[in-house]
Amino acid sequence: MNDGFSLTVGRAVLRLTLGDLTEVAADALVNAANSRLAGGGGVDGALHRAGGPAIAEECRRIRAERGGCPPGEAVLTTAGRLKARGLIHTVGPVWRGGQAGEDEVLRRAYQNSLRLAVAHGLRTVAFPSISTGAYGFPVARAARVALRALLDFLASPEGQSLAEVQLVLHTPEDYAVYRSALAELSGQRPLP
Ligand code: APR
Repeated sequence: MNDGFSLTVGRAVLRLTLGDLTEVAADALVNAANSRLAGGGGVDGALHRAGGPAIAEECRRIRAERGGCPPGEAVLTTAGRLKARGLIHTVGPVWRGGQAGEDEVLRRAYQNSLRLAVAHGLRTVAFPSISTGAYGFPVARAARVALRALLDFLASPEGQSLAEVQLVLHTPEDYAVYRSALAELSGQRPLP
């Protein structure tokens, strides 16, 4: 885990780091889940393994009660043994070529995750790069959508109780893509 790059937005810090989300300490970690909340590979599998069976148990209960979590929405469970008070499960879009509303669903996944955090008094939140693994969303486009959504939320009245939002990128390549997208969106040049 490096210290990454950070930017102040409103009252909060937006931070990009290179690392493993399962090792991050925050009030809430965000999982890139599927609609059935059934677990899987990627960051979902890693978070369930690190957090223990209490997470899947609560996911099963939510699935039984309300059928899961539609794309673009988010639900909160225990974080089990993870270093967090809660685990937010959100579902990104499956990439279908870019004309099927994927950008909007991805934007809502970030926005609704932060809304849920705020509603539960969770002030520091760490995300993975949603949809850019098994779901096939191109990373450069996803980075722009994700960062725009996070910057907009942090600048809005709704976002003022948040202290830090972190994007934890798993590879140096993804980190570089997010870093230059953030430079572009915030009008700054990336550091050499
Ligand atoms: N920490 C941070 N990021 C990680 C980690 C980790 N430990 N492990 C994987 N990643 C990164 C991947 O490199 C990718 O950039 O998370 C990003 C998202 O990839 P996926 O986990 O495949 O998520 P997604 O594309 O949203 O697909 C969701 O995959 O695991 C299943 O159940 C999940 O069906 C759902 C689908």
